[in-house]
Amino acid sequence: MFADKVSIFEVGPRDGLQNEVAVTTADKLRLIEQLAQAGVKRIEAGSFVSPKWVPQMADSGDIFRQLQRVDGITYSALTPNLKGLELALDAGADEVAIFGAASQSFSQKNINCSIEESIERFAPVMQAAQANNVRVRGYVSCVLGCPYEGDIAVAEVARVAEILYKMGCYEISLGDTIGVGTPHNARRMVEAVAEVVPVDKLALHFHDTYGQALANILACLATGVSVIDSSVAGLGGCPYAKGASGNLATEDLVYMLHGMGIDTGIDLALLAQAGDQISQALGRNNGSKVAQAIKN
Ligand code: HMG
Ligand code: MG
Repeated sequence: MFADKVSIFEVGPRDGLQNEVAVTTADKLRLIEQLAQAGVKRIEAGSFVSPKWVPQMADSGDIFRQLQRVDGITYSALTPNLKGLELALDAGADEVAIFGAASQSFSQKNINCSIEESIERFAPVMQAAQANNVRVRGYVSCVLGCPYEGDIAVAEVARVAEILYKMGCYEISLGDTIGVGTPHNARRMVEAVAEVVPVDKLALHFHDTYGQALANILACLATGVSVIDSSVAGLGGCPYAKGASGNLATEDLVYMLHGMGIDTGIDLALLAQAGDQISQALGRNNGSKVAQAIKN
């Protein structure tokens, strides 16, 4: 039972660029605007985290204040704590995300606290966001493996996902942070989480480190999931997951979905142009196979 429509949540400007030191605010703004022109409706435009931890995202306030907003597009931001939420609200983020993990070690390295402490820290963020009528998305990292602990129990993924959902997150994004999953275990993990969080409230967030992301998404689409996170030109990685590469390239995902008759509302040619321009700005090849094929 494949959905006939998939909503793409573009994370390139945040997950992609959080690792890149040499990107100007102007380049980021141009990328976000080009993604909007290509028909992307949900864009993670930055994160309000400690600039000591992730200096690459220190201009997120400028991004939100300066971007040319397009009606009908949601511009969202990561907010690990109340301070992040206050900054995000002040800068005009439409939506925010709290980000936890199914691995204690990753939680500690990424946000400097245990899973339990992170849940305590998220509670006031949720309250303040709700008081301001701002929706909160929830991420669970390391759903198919952790860079520090290796295998992660599916029951732990489901437990953390359920806590975030019950806390009030409108959608739970399941992150294969280091891209180690393969189709059968990815699908089993989604099925297990879908027992505690409705499948139409789940999103897939798969990094492509081992080249498995597209296959994993195809396997998981069969569960009825219809929201997928991806990153234009395959940008990115995670500063606290050594060796993690970018998310699945949005161009490759859109090409596969359109080929299967699944609508995304995205213009692939315009999307590929956006990916080409940011790749040029970074001085590297476009990480999307589809974008490269279109160009040749
Ligand atoms: P901490 O050091 O424990 O926090 O960091 P603290 O409360 O003790 O504050 C320390 C300093 O940071 C203070 O400044 C605070 O004011 C400041 P000082 O007094 O030393 O000058 N500070 C902040 N500044 C700006 N914005 C804030 C903020 N909070 C504190 N929000 C903290 C805890 C969570 C802040 C830190 O660990 C952090 O920023 N971590 C973020 C790491 C990150 O961004 N990782 C990448 C994103 S997650 C990811 O990529 C995975 C995902 O894609 C899904 C997947 O792939 O699995 C989502
Ligand atoms: Mg990620």
